[in-house]
Amino acid sequence: MSLSTIEQVKMHENGECWRDQAGQSIQAHGGGILLHDGVYYWYGEDRSGYPLDTDGQRKRRNVGVSCYSSTDLVNWTHVGVVLPAVDDPTHDLHIHRVIERPKVIYNPGTKQFVMWLHVDSPDYSYARAGVAVADSPAGPFRYLHSLRPNGFMSRDQTLFLDVDGQAYHIGASDENANTMISRLTDDYLNVSGDFCKAFPGRYMEAFAFVRHEGRYWMIASGCTGWKPNAARSAVAETFMGPWEELGNPCVGENADLTFGGQSTFIIPQGPATHEPVAMFDVWRPPALATSGYVWLPIRWKNGRMELHWQPNWPGDTKRP
Ligand code: DGJ
Repeated sequence: MSLSTIEQVKMHENGECWRDQAGQSIQAHGGGILLHDGVYYWYGEDRSGYPLDTDGQRKRRNVGVSCYSSTDLVNWTHVGVVLPAVDDPTHDLHIHRVIERPKVIYNPGTKQFVMWLHVDSPDYSYARAGVAVADSPAGPFRYLHSLRPNGFMSRDQTLFLDVDGQAYHIGASDENANTMISRLTDDYLNVSGDFCKAFPGRYMEAFAFVRHEGRYWMIASGCTGWKPNAARSAVAETFMGPWEELGNPCVGENADLTFGGQSTFIIPQGPATHEPVAMFDVWRPPALATSGYVWLPIRWKNGRMELHWQPNWPGDTKRP
């Protein structure tokens, strides 16, 4: 199917693996969105090397990080694999190691697009954050290094870019027991040494953050591997905390399993209604390529976030 013959997509079915403008399944799992010069870029794990019909775990392989572009957050064009996995078994990005949860932010000072991602050994004991850079949002990204932020383990990482240009790395540290928030250096390529540990002993992962009406809000999950669990939420006056837990923001049927999903990112402004939009993955191991997406607008009620199931993205965009 060529781009010229494909119809514009009006909506996607929440819970399913969505399709791009070429009719291919979108491979941007554990992903995040960058808005740059009016274009949305969706970066995520390309799991096409984990198809339904692969016989045996060792044949499955990482492809790397894929990127999709869109001007409406609905119709997505595959830009390409912007950070490919490699065949060198000593490299962080080896095809049989772990490459998860890439996030990209733009640094106006250096004019670089900076990607951080979770790199790990197959048993998740390496627990490091990798850093890559590009001159264009479409890549290619150049892998620089990996680190344990401030000397601590890092799994299930994400980035948060604040309105003042300060950027933060957030990851699960100490065998996932604690959540570590590290301020990044001005070039966003390293940690600055300023850090805090939040949610002690709460075993969280899948962190996603948004600033809303002057405060900072988080959605995350508990630790149950690829299986869904009840989402967590929290609020803070300043990004380094203290953070106050607010419980599961999901409401209604299947809320205790986050509608089958696990958080990955919050888009600060959705289309039409401009509400922040929470992005979730519906993991389907071992055929991770078939994993689905759930995107839901966040509403605020009585000082808490609320997420209600809707069958489609973007759903009803006429809400006041
Ligand atoms: C849950 C994490 O959120 C995923 O990114 C992945 O690491 C799985 N665990 C692996 O079991």
